[in-house]
Amino acid sequence: MQATAELADRISTISISSTMKVSADADRLRREGADVVDFGAGEPDFPTPANISQAAISAINANFTKYTAAGGTPELREAICERHHLDFGTKYAASECMVTVGGKHAIFNLIQALINPGDEVVIPVPYWVTYKDVVNYAGGVCVFVNTDENTGFEVTASTIEHHLTERTKLVIINSPCNPSGAVLSMEEFRAIFDLTSRRGIFLLTDECYCHFLYEAKPFSIAALPGAKESVVVAGSLSKTYAMTGWRIGFALAPATIIGAMTKLQSHSTSNPTSIAQKAAVEAMRGSQDSVPVMLAEYRRRRDFVVERLRTIPGVLIVMPKGAFYAYPNISVAYGSGRVGNSLEFASELLAKAQVAVVPGEAFGTSDHVRISYATSMTELERGLNRLHKFIDTIRA
Ligand SMILES: Cc1ncc(COP(=O)(O)O)c(C=O)c1O
Repeated sequence: MQATAELADRISTISISSTMKVSADADRLRREGADVVDFGAGEPDFPTPANISQAAISAINANFTKYTAAGGTPELREAICERHHLDFGTKYAASECMVTVGGKHAIFNLIQALINPGDEVVIPVPYWVTYKDVVNYAGGVCVFVNTDENTGFEVTASTIEHHLTERTKLVIINSPCNPSGAVLSMEEFRAIFDLTSRRGIFLLTDECYCHFLYEAKPFSIAALPGAKESVVVAGSLSKTYAMTGWRIGFALAPATIIGAMTKLQSHSTSNPTSIAQKAAVEAMRGSQDSVPVMLAEYRRRRDFVVERLRTIPGVLIVMPKGAFYAYPNISVAYGSGRVGNSLEFASELLAKAQVAVVPGEAFGTSDHVRISYATSMTELERGLNRLHKFIDTIRA
């Protein structure tokens, strides 16, 4: 008998990652011969630092190519705890750390291990695309907290408090934020932690961009006294060390949660690639010199992008304080009958001007697009010139 193609109900609760879709569309156009400027990709254009790549080559030569413990090698888990201690003053033991196949996987494991159907998860808007889908996949309920330009997209403890109920299990904070570049002050983050810990709610801090701050000094909320009991850190080596393809992330959390997440991982991916884990040990313990070099270049590009966007009449842009994204409000281009939301804007921009951006709908707002400035100044200049002309044409 032929198997039916009916899929599991839970798979229909999620959609394909829109950021990945933009890259795929841009790629397709490029293969067809179009001269595309790609502002869609959320990945560093820098090479992985040579010392890190060399550690992987040495791992292959030493035949370090077999299974490791499902939650990562003790060596790497210790190295991650050491790095986090050196950078932020936290005190995690290897039993409170696991290595995952990228930071995204740490978040997926956590949500699956923590969220029951009907549990509420508070997510500030704009949000990184994946949170919503992984919460939905677990049967959880997303409770969105809006932020806007007027407050620099910074969420506050008091707005979060209005969204808490008996069913709230988790609050997710991503600072610096993808896509807005907003950074929470230490005071506000502390107030959010005070609130969640008082109410017995877990706080997930997604530290993916924690080293890319343009004004404040990096900090981790997990370093506060008592934070380790209810804070979960999702970390990633992808952006900090330009290692997106190596797929190494981590979680720092109470040992029981790490145990549950590791159990799940042991039945899905098993260990992250052994060779990439050796490279990650070097990233954690070796020279950190590449990080400020990349940050300085991102700052230069950020300043250029914001200045250039401000020359386009009607476009609003909040100065990003971290990460490598600008999140302009382009709604000035709506109403001409040609585009009415950011999905249409992005699709027309790609079709007519060959510039790829991610529509704000992917992040929960419909008046914005995300521009990744993790690309060269030449590309930024070319793409922003095209964007300016595109908006002028639409408004004419
Ligand atoms: C906010 C945020 N968190 C986590 C991740 C996960 O990154 P990775 O899975 O490459 O470690 C990303 C990647 O874009 C991100 O933007």
